[in-house]
Amino acid sequence: MSTDPYRPRPEHRFSFGLWTVGWRGNDPFGEPTRPAMEPEHALGRLAELGAWGVSLHDDDLIPFGAQDASRGRLLDRFRKALADTGLAVPMLTTNLFTHPVFKDGAFTANDRDVRRFALRKTLRNLDLAAELGAGVYVLWGGREGAETPVAKDARVALDRYAEAVDLLCGYVREQGYDIRFALEPKPNEPRGDILLPTIGHALAFIERLAHPELVGVNPEVGHEQMAGLSVTHGVAQALWAGKLFHIDLNGQTGPRYDQDLRFGNGDVKAAFHLVDLLERAGYDGPRHFDFKPARTEDEHGVWAAAAACMRNYLIFAERAAAFHADPEVAAAKEASRISALAVPTLLPGEDLAGLRAESFDPESAATRGMGYERLDQLALDHLFGVR
Ligand code: GCO
Ligand code: MN
Ligand code: MN
Repeated sequence: MSTDPYRPRPEHRFSFGLWTVGWRGNDPFGEPTRPAMEPEHALGRLAELGAWGVSLHDDDLIPFGAQDASRGRLLDRFRKALADTGLAVPMLTTNLFTHPVFKDGAFTANDRDVRRFALRKTLRNLDLAAELGAGVYVLWGGREGAETPVAKDARVALDRYAEAVDLLCGYVREQGYDIRFALEPKPNEPRGDILLPTIGHALAFIERLAHPELVGVNPEVGHEQMAGLSVTHGVAQALWAGKLFHIDLNGQTGPRYDQDLRFGNGDVKAAFHLVDLLERAGYDGPRHFDFKPARTEDEHGVWAAAAACMRNYLIFAERAAAFHADPEVAAAKEASRISALAVPTLLPGEDLAGLRAESFDPESAATRGMGYERLDQLALDHLFGVR
């Protein structure tokens, strides 16, 4: 029995997209640097490393356009690999972006027949999701967008987007499937501008749907950072709204192309605070990694990166717990009046007339320091492991 405190175990609920460890390293400028990986091989290695689950797009397993016979064979092999490894399938999603038919979008394509095809493709995969026991179905609309404002009226496109999600929710209800949807925001790439670009846009969209209770978000760390936003604030708002159904953990260095770095690479401090938030909030959904092992790596590098994603999560969780348990930190938090924010501004029994009658000296209040510099450094000391 290993005593490594950062050894991942199934109860940590770490999951990986089949397309992540299976990514061959092809990018817009270069060809693949690694051979294709059999899904069964990926499952075996993930289970050995301590992962709990695997997620997939329909096309990750069953090539686009496959005949029913080969679909059946591939599914049988996959089901057997699941049984052999004990891995769960917590999430399924549809590939509505690779085939050229989706060049103008799927649920928001101007061409109605394309929209109907996208719905058929998704409905079929929802049946598979139900069969495999996936509780979350991710909707990442990578092609739902445009390169020019003349391409579509975004208000009308949002009508069609909402129509599609409503139809999918209706189907899940009618079938009695235990599945909820999670919208994954992204500001751009592959489209010049993508609809529902941030967590905030997605949360506002959900409130206008026919079945908002069935729809939440799947934030990706790097996608918020591509937009220059705080992923911690975004995820906190999703938690606040009861909408964090799933999360894509990875790394990114500021606003630029979608890097999909392994979790822990990129903005380490943001990753640390995100794990702290998830742990303190008691988030119990999948801790899902959506990253691309660098194309410089061979298969050893792929598994080193996958193991590192889980190890870094556990290190951040342990460092965050140590930070909160430190008596000096407790004193510093008091000095920063952290707990005072939880006290309602107007207590029960108080009224606005009383508040208006109160006297206050803004000049003296303005002289109080908040002590955040010290508190932040204590957090860094814990993150760096020097406390
Ligand atoms: C990205 C996206 C995708 C989606 C995935 C699910 O990096 O642009 O995260 O990886 O999460 O394809 O549809
Ligand atoms: Mn990404
Ligand atoms: Mn993602």
